[in-house]
Amino acid sequence: ILTKLQKECATPLPVLRHVADAMAADMRAGLAVDGGSDLQMILSYVDSLPTGNEKGLFYALDLGGTNFRVLRVQLGGKDERVVATEFDQVSIPQELMFGTSEELFDFIASGLAKFAKKEGGKYHLPRGRKREIGFTFSFPVKQTSVDSGILIKWTKGFAVSGTAGKDVVACLNEAMQRQGLDMQVSALVNDTVGTLAGARYWDDDVMVAVILGTGTNACYVECVDAIPKLKGHNSTSGRTIINTEWGAFSNGLPLTQFDREMDAESINPGEQIFEKTISGMYLGEIVRRVLVKMAEAGDLFGESVPEKLSTPFVLRTPDICAMQQDNSQDLVDVESILYDVVGLKSNLNARKIVLEVCDTIVKRGGRLAGAGIVGILQKMEEESKGLIYGKRTVVAMDGGLYEHFSQYRSYLQDAVTELLGSEISKNVVIEHTKDGSGIGAALLAASNSKYEHDF
Ligand code: BG6
Ligand code: GLC
Repeated sequence: ILTKLQKECATPLPVLRHVADAMAADMRAGLAVDGGSDLQMILSYVDSLPTGNEKGLFYALDLGGTNFRVLRVQLGGKDERVVATEFDQVSIPQELMFGTSEELFDFIASGLAKFAKKEGGKYHLPRGRKREIGFTFSFPVKQTSVDSGILIKWTKGFAVSGTAGKDVVACLNEAMQRQGLDMQVSALVNDTVGTLAGARYWDDDVMVAVILGTGTNACYVECVDAIPKLKGHNSTSGRTIINTEWGAFSNGLPLTQFDREMDAESINPGEQIFEKTISGMYLGEIVRRVLVKMAEAGDLFGESVPEKLSTPFVLRTPDICAMQQDNSQDLVDVESILYDVVGLKSNLNARKIVLEVCDTIVKRGGRLAGAGIVGILQKMEEESKGLIYGKRTVVAMDGGLYEHFSQYRSYLQDAVTELLGSEISKNVVIEHTKDGSGIGAALLAASNSKYEHDF
């Protein structure tokens, strides 16, 4: 089983090259017409990135990762930059992921209301001016402007009824009204776009942002001339941010029976195949499925298959990470995780095999993510003829998987270096921007403020 798995998951250079080329080709096709490829290549309506001049008090909401966050950001303009940030964070209760739209938005609005109360008269806005919000909403949204957009579908295990097809800002506004909150959304952004904005605030060379967390996605700076489907949208900068929604990419990926079965049994079969192969929500589950097959097939773990092991998603990616970090001779952490989490009794040989399974899935994920990044850079390089590879270009990264899983990070970097070669890859800086999407959304709310003057 292990040998077959390793063979099917292998990502030698030609496979990586194919994935990078296919990513670039799918990007072009998605920019040509809506529905032109698996990649939706969504227009963000964000045409200018933060300059550092943004000023004032702004709120941000960040929904769609592991945690729901509410932030208050005081921007001080060129000299002072971000002068204060406060935030609250809670994880989204599981039942809300399967509840109704109203329940979810009420949860968000009441979190915001509680947090806003704590402001306690600290800030005074000019008369008649509402507090403005940058709303990071990390799902595929067809933007209708920078401050409105329709949810296309849920991803990452969310199955909330009644939101798809609706304007999520309108949903939030209704919930805020129910809470008696008089605030307004000035920017609605994907988490990748928020991360790009947040990172660009500090570094002008940031051109791409990638999330590798529960789900995965990437956005980048595109020239408007390279977007045939863009009609009647004037961008003074000549550029705009495209949210690729690359989680839906599927072209030429090395997949196995375990991936196909997981997909078939998921709540969104046939969708988000790249996401299901490389992101945090799924890596542990793929490993679990391999272990079930191993436990059923032989005597590696004793005679019976423990009940716990049969529970979908019980083995989580942080467990895989913890097992891979076990440096002890007898792999004592691997032993306890296998027993505590999935009920498997193991000898040293079995533990070593489990580690190889983990490594195979993590390596494939990290390397494919790296190939995806190169696909984006390749597309940008073609457009800008030397302006990407010929100078320092920063890819801002965020998400729990990237942040906490060093082995994954190093597989990703290896693939980027292999594909670009050592000279060019010196110019490509892949950098973690922790929780930048909240501040990024606040900055975009500031640059798209409904009010003319800073205060
Ligand atoms: C956070 C960002 O740091 O990472 C969020 O602020 C983003 O906007 C999240 O959605 C993704 O990571 P995870 O691991 O929470 O899914
Ligand atoms: C999913 C969402 C996408 C988001 C990504 C990372 O792929 O569809 O919008 O950016 O997860 O959170």
